[in-house]
Formats: sequence, C-alpha cells, structure tokens
Amino acid sequence: MGLLDGKVAIVTGAGGGIGREHALALAAEGAKLLINDLGGTRDGSGVGSQRMADHVAEEIRAAGGEAAANYDSVATIAGGQNILKSALAAFGKVDILVNNAGILRDKTLSKMEEEQWDIVNAVHLKGTFCVTQPIFNHMRERGEGGVIINTSSTSGLEGNFGQCNYGAAKAGIWGFSRCLALEGKKSNIRVFVLAPVAHTRLTEDLPFFQTEETKARMDPKLVSPLVVFLASELAKDLTGRTFFVGGGTIAEMKMVRGEGATKKENGGLWTPREIAQSIDKILA
Ligand code: NAI
Repeated sequence: MGLLDGKVAIVTGAGGGIGREHALALAAEGAKLLINDLGGTRDGSGVGSQRMADHVAEEIRAAGGEAAANYDSVATIAGGQNILKSALAAFGKVDILVNNAGILRDKTLSKMEEEQWDIVNAVHLKGTFCVTQPIFNHMRERGEGGVIINTSSTSGLEGNFGQCNYGAAKAGIWGFSRCLALEGKKSNIRVFVLAPVAHTRLTEDLPFFQTEETKARMDPKLVSPLVVFLASELAKDLTGRTFFVGGGTIAEMKMVRGEGATKKENGGLWTPREIAQSIDKILA
C-alpha cells in the first residue's frame, strides 16, 4: 500500500533537478504522474526539448508506475489549461499539483534589464498562477479536495544578493499561497510552500556547491519525501505552512509579527522621536 494509491499528481518542471525527484517519489507511493517540462535551458532561453519530460515519464513506467508527459510552458494561462487537459486526458482527474518549474536570470538591481525581470516573474510567479487557477477550479468542481505545493525560495523569504527579480517572484509565490490556503479551506484544498535547497543545474555554479562533499549532501532527492508527506493524508491539518528543506534538514519557516509597542495617547499617533525611543520594544 502506497501513501498516494489512486491519486493523480502533476509536477511542473519535472524533467530534471528537484521536480524529477518529486515525480519519482510521488510515483513510488502509488500516484499517477503527469510530467510537465518544456525542456528549456536553465535561464529559460533555448529550444525546448520534449525529451526531458518523456525520459522521466519512461523512468516511472519502467519502475511499474503510470505516467504521461506534457510540454507546455507554465508561463501562460493557455499553458496552464493545457497541462490540466493533458492530466484529464491521461488519468481523468487531478488530486495533487506541485508547482516547481523555474529559471534564473541573476543580476544586481542596478544592472537588471526589463526582460530579465519579466521572464523570471513570468515563469515563477505568473506561472504559479497560470497553472494553479485551472487546477484549483477543477479540484473545487470535483469536490474531493486536493493538495497544491508551491515552490518558493530562501532567496525570496530571506533575501539573496543579485536576485531581486527571482526573490520578488519567490516571495510573491509565498503570499499567493498564504491567500490561496484560506480560499481552499472550504473545499479541503490544502496549500503548502516549499523553500528547497539542492545541488541542481540551477545552483551548480554557486560557490557553496563546489566541493563533492557538498554536492552529495545537497542531493535533490533529499527534498522530495517532504512533498510526498505534504501530499498525503499524513499532513491533513497543516495547510498554509511553509517548509525549508534540503541536505537532510526540514524546518518550518514563519513570518512573525512581534508583540511591538502600542501608543494609546493622542489617538495612537506616534511622533518619529517617540518611535526612536521605543525602538527596542518595537523590534523585540
Ligand atoms: P532545474 O533547472 O533543474 O529544474 C527546473 C525545471 O523547470 C527544468 O527542467 C526546466 O526545463 C523547467 N522549466 C523551466 N521553465 C519552464 C516553463 N516555463 N514551463 C515548464 N517547465 C519549465 O532547477 P531546480 O533546482 O530543480 O529547481 C526547481 C525549483 O526549485 C525551481 O522553482 C527553483 O526556483 C526552486 N529552487 C531551487 C533551489 C535549489 O537549491 N536548487 C533553491 C530554491 C528554490
């Protein structure tokens, strides 16, 4: 008995890296998989190759699972609708969506060109919207709940030098997911956020990943058991939460509002100097 027997899952950008591991791990627990990947290069340029998605679907079938492939870009509404259509044609329903597709165009803000901002936001933030909307609506109409797992990053949630475009998109995905978790509650659609770290083609030139020891310790397959857990009934009471995962560590990440300081006098209107005087309490 697998944790996901009878379930149908879509993983976007599942032709390589972390997405491929998610797909293999979900399939190993009994889910039928739609493998989406447009087969691009790491920066989103270059000619798409259907081979990436096909190869992962073949791997799943060779291991005795069920899988189909789809090659649409996540970055348009038409693409999102086609991804849903492909899953319905192959398996008749969708229970689990993992939004994972991604690219990088790193540049410091002062040198960033409009195109570098636009394409990164189109694939990550708009892509998450474009794929999630049709599938969320399908889950609502079916009335049997569902799970949506969106991929953010510490680059957005904590910040990272040279990634204002990517960080903004990834923090946007977090905000999108927090809102959607509330909208999904009535229909038992659970929404989670992942902030993974792994050695993939996306991160291979970071100084952190230059030793063989670190590469092995940050194997992308270490990220995926958390996705299977979140997609299963084992996580049925955890909707809305965000998890850091990588290198054997799993930790909840939270946006925290401190107790702060409240002024009662003068209708609650602070003066800038009073704020300075209370700053220790405000920051605590
Ligand atoms: P990767 O480059 O190995 O995989 C991304 C996949 O998405 C590729 O197979 C690519 O062809 C596909 N893709 C790109 N644009 C697409 C589009 N428009 N439509 C459909 N597919 C598309 O990278 P990796 O590392 O596996 O990244 C997976 C996710 O994890 C991304 O969202 C990334 O931002 C996120 N992430 C990764 C981290 C890491 O340490 N590797 C750190 C934080 C977040």
